[in-house]
Amino acid sequence: MPSKMITHFPWAASPFIMNAPMEGFAGGELAAQVTLAGGLGFVGGTTNLDKEMEIASSIISKEPSFGNYTGKTFPIGVGFLVFITDIEKVLPSVARWKPKVVWLFAAKELSALQTWAERIREVTGGESQIWIQLGSVATSLEVLKIAKPDVVVAQGSDAGGHGIDQGAGIISLLPEMRDAMNQNGFEKVPIVAAGGIADGRGVAAALTLGAEGVVMGTRFLASEEVRLPDDNYRQAVLQGKDGGQYTVRSQVFDELRGPTIWPTGYDGRAVVSASYRDHLTGASIEELRSKTRQAEEKNGKDYGVQGRSAVWAGAGIGLVNKVQSARDIVFEVRKSAVETIEAARSRV
Ligand SMILES: Cc1cc2nc3c(=O)[nH]c(=O)nc-3n(C[C@H](O)[C@H](O)[C@H](O)COP(=O)(O)O)c2cc1C
Repeated sequence: MPSKMITHFPWAASPFIMNAPMEGFAGGELAAQVTLAGGLGFVGGTTNLDKEMEIASSIISKEPSFGNYTGKTFPIGVGFLVFITDIEKVLPSVARWKPKVVWLFAAKELSALQTWAERIREVTGGESQIWIQLGSVATSLEVLKIAKPDVVVAQGSDAGGHGIDQGAGIISLLPEMRDAMNQNGFEKVPIVAAGGIADGRGVAAALTLGAEGVVMGTRFLASEEVRLPDDNYRQAVLQGKDGGQYTVRSQVFDELRGPTIWPTGYDGRAVVSASYRDHLTGASIEELRSKTRQAEEKNGKDYGVQGRSAVWAGAGIGLVNKVQSARDIVFEVRKSAVETIEAARSRV
């Protein structure tokens, strides 16, 4: 039986797949194609939300299968980085579009998540669901009590981009989170899995752990619709192998262009670069900043294994080898997840 959660998304197919709301990377084109493939597309939070939603809307409205979609909400999600987003600037767009889901991540104080959740519910008349991405069991329980999210996104430490600096992989995090939520009266709140899932096998594993849907970030970095800073970034993703060696979690990536703006307790997973190798051999932050500045001044950007700038990507990078349309990614991953589960059943 497909997840109950999916009934809230009438166009969606099971297993339920989403792209991560990667700020600067996930725009209206990517989000629209993921939704049209029967998943839920997210745009990365931005003060230019209206523009991204217009892009998504123009793509979706041309699709005959969506022509008769009459939901009260817009079938796209939007994600906000709470610690850097001015809520007053984005609320009018949230009220206007009523995204199906508003995803919140990375607050300086957990109480900010409560404020955001309340304000979003207020301006959308309770129509937009609130999903909050979290990486630890204790924090999840606290946030469930104060912000009452509709869904928790469990982010494991294999995830690309930012996350908490003391986290576990999804294989232990998710079931422990599920047990703790069940024991504390949150048994009806679904969990969606994120972090290191890049193909149908990862999706099958997440479903088996108790996830009701799966978020992929790194896999969509190799989609046709994603917005990447340049081709070196793309090549660094496509060439990545042996993800635990090729990427690493560190706070140093956030220090390369000046002091980090991230809240305490966060770091980020990125490709092991010249900056990171120098950091390991004792280079000072000032030295790393100076080399990054020089390289970026010379070339505009400096992405890649030999580069200085951060290429955010997850430990599943070795499974991401070719560029495909976002639709093909969703179709392929969904099909392969079902096949994987059937094959696993035959081995039991
Ligand atoms: C390039 C990149 C940018 C990201 N930006 C954001 C962001 O702006 N907001 C957010 O909530 N998560 C962001 N994330 C983290 C994702 O929400 C998610 O946890 C992660 O992509 C899942 O792991 P995976 O990359 O292994 O699929 C980003 C991830 C990547 C790879």
